Amino acid sequence: MADIASPTRGVTCAATLERREEALPGVFILEFRLDGGSSVDQPVPGQFYQFNCGGGREHMLPRPLSVHGVTRWDDEVAMLRFLVEAVGWGTERLCSLEHGDEVRLLGPLGRGFSLAEDGKALLVAGGIGIAPLFFLASEMDRNDMEYDLLAGFRSARQFYRPLSGLEGGVEVYTDDGSLGSGGMVSDGVGGRLERGMYRAVYTCGPQAMMAVVAGISEETGVPCQVSLASRMGCGIGACRGCVMEGRGGENLCVCSDGPVFESNKVAWTGHPST
Ligand SMILES: Cc1cc2nc3c(=O)[nH]c(=O)nc-3n(C[C@H](O)[C@H](O)[C@H](O)COP(=O)(O)OP(=O)(O)OC[C@H]3O[C@@H](n4cnc5c(N)ncnc54)[C@H](O)[C@@H]3O)c2cc1C
Ligand code: FES
Repeated sequence: MADIASPTRGVTCAATLERREEALPGVFILEFRLDGGSSVDQPVPGQFYQFNCGGGREHMLPRPLSVHGVTRWDDEVAMLRFLVEAVGWGTERLCSLEHGDEVRLLGPLGRGFSLAEDGKALLVAGGIGIAPLFFLASEMDRNDMEYDLLAGFRSARQFYRPLSGLEGGVEVYTDDGSLGSGGMVSDGVGGRLERGMYRAVYTCGPQAMMAVVAGISEETGVPCQVSLASRMGCGIGACRGCVMEGRGGENLCVCSDGPVFESNKVAWTGHPST
């Protein structure tokens, strides 16, 4: 497998909201046009942007959001889409922007997913973890790459309908069994990997879920990339506010060493990995 994609330094830019759509209860698709033309760097799935949500001193830290999709004009990225769950002050403020409102953002930042050159991939998403994995699946469609996507939601009400438009195989899990298979999305991983169907695993979601997926992948010898989430400050490797523990006891700076890591680099402290 290729190394995890190199980080980009990102640029600050202004963007204007073109579309806001409530895709699920409390979860919005926000589509922004990049003012002054197109993105300097093409975002890679797994990379993120830091959003200035306003609010002065009290809320001065920007909020990180993974790229959920892009629209290209002449092969250049001109529109960026994000899938945002309103969980607090900053995300609620972003989700209540109106058409034509302007925001400032910095990106694309961090290291994204690296695609295996050949063979089929398994994508495993839990909840809002679908945001970067949907972009990854769309890019795989664009490059005629084979994959299956397992997506877990709390119930049928949280099912993300655009998944039906993807070209890869999609299997849905719900906690209450109201859609697809009942149970945890990680339940579907072991059998598939044991059958030797996949060359690589990519996962994003709650940390406990990723720890289980990482453990199964390591047991079955399939390389696994995980997208970690941590509270962030600067987003560019300067404040050390996002650090998590690596397996060798080292510090992993989630914003600039990640957010995508090879699963065997992560300590998974507090989460049994199988
Ligand atoms: C690299 C990265 C990519 C992300 N991509 C997305 C995305 O695509 N879509 C999306 O909806 N969210 C994403 N998040 C999470 C998002 O950044 C947080 O939900 C947001 O910063 C919360 O800000 P707030 O002001 O709304 O909430 P706050 O008032 O700051 O917090 C509200 C609640 O959310 C929890 N929280 C805040 N930040 C995080 C975090 N980073 N990880 C886990 N819990 C957190 C807090 O503990 C608190 O319980 C991402 C986070 C990271 C680090
Ligand atoms: S958020 Fe500042 S170093 Fe990662």
